[in-house]
Amino acid sequence: MKNILVTGGAGFIGSNFVIHMLGKYDGYNIVVFDKLTYAGNRDNLLEVSDDPRYHFVRGDIADEAAVDAAVQQYQIDTIVNFAAETHVDRSIMDPDAFIKTSVYGTYVLLEATKKFGLERFHQISTDEVYGHIPAGYSSREGDSLVPRSPYAASKASADMLVNSYFITYDLPVTITRGSNNIGPYQYPEKVIPLFATNAMDGEQLPVYGDGRQMREYQYVLDHCQAIDLVLHKGVVGEAYNIGTGVEMENMTMVEILLKALGKPMSLIRHVEDRPGHDRRYSLNIDKIKALGWEPQHTAEEAIIKTAKWYQENEWWWRKIKSGEFKAYYQAQYGARLAEEDQ
Ligand code: NAD
Ligand code: DAU
Repeated sequence: MKNILVTGGAGFIGSNFVIHMLGKYDGYNIVVFDKLTYAGNRDNLLEVSDDPRYHFVRGDIADEAAVDAAVQQYQIDTIVNFAAETHVDRSIMDPDAFIKTSVYGTYVLLEATKKFGLERFHQISTDEVYGHIPAGYSSREGDSLVPRSPYAASKASADMLVNSYFITYDLPVTITRGSNNIGPYQYPEKVIPLFATNAMDGEQLPVYGDGRQMREYQYVLDHCQAIDLVLHKGVVGEAYNIGTGVEMENMTMVEILLKALGKPMSLIRHVEDRPGHDRRYSLNIDKIKALGWEPQHTAEEAIIKTAKWYQENEWWWRKIKSGEFKAYYQAQYGARLAEEDQ
């Protein structure tokens, strides 16, 4: 591995991964290949922008000619695919781009991996592919994929394509399935940056339904370290779950967040639930632990650290919240917030 194409590298996890890899290793060149959708942001990569080992290409993973040109120009040997439409609520409003990017786009990248004989294709997947998980059970990598939102279905489809290329063409693939990431540079549509930035402005926090849904909130750099480990020590053809192994109710998360920001609980507002909302995700992380990885943060530590980052980095999120975000917020929350408390 020498020249790595990081698709979706201008997004939240992708940019943290690029910063992590350039900081830890001397010998890798990293080419970010990103369409710069509303979620892509070159500000996320400012701290590496002068690094001669870093390059940026604006492109769509569903565009075969653009992908092939980047692979050839930079003599890519490894693809790490973060590129996706990633917000469940937007997938409920309009799934089209989710399918184009995660299904067709992943296919294009797999074809490039095959055509140019690359060393590795790594797919960044999610715990959402397993669907809602009943209390008392944690998903294992061999479990059936039962996605329940258009977003989750687009990601499960990509996983299945990746597996099919391993079985049919012997392609050197790996998959990681992460739980909810939090940390620097997360677009403020996702719950923790949305709630943190709303709270800082004294605005309500729209909690879906009863807020008793459970998620495994993990610090983004823990996730990046696990991806790095799978790239170096993972077994080809295998998937690895990455989380904390400990789930938390959303109401608990909100209370920790408000306390960390010194803001009142009265900002909490229960609103109409997300359609088809998965109540619980839970990952069994024995397999990634056996490779030698442990999460470095509990969910509580990750929430507090993230809250502090948003407090200290208004330059980053204020310009986002004043852009296309406003129209999205109105479409997603306008009617909900106009209703009586749920
Ligand atoms: P994000 O929305 O912050 O970033 C996505 C990036 O992909 C953006 O930079 C965007 O411009 C780019 N992109 C979108 N469509 C593209 C296309 N067609 N071609 C090229 N680039 C394109 O997402 P994120 O939260 O950083 O998630 C990254 C990956 O991790 C996704 O595959 C997501 O499914 C997965 N994941 C996310 C989480 C989470 O909690 N955020 C958890 C597990 C897995
Ligand atoms: O589990 C991994 C997944 O985590 C990733 O694959 C997705 O890309 C990422 O978006 C995230 O999905 P979620 O739907 O879990 O994340 P979100 O931040 O949208 O919501 C987290 C929880 O908070 C969920 O139970 C819904 C709830 N929520 C969310 C929003 C945006 C609210 O109660 N109110 C909100 O306004």
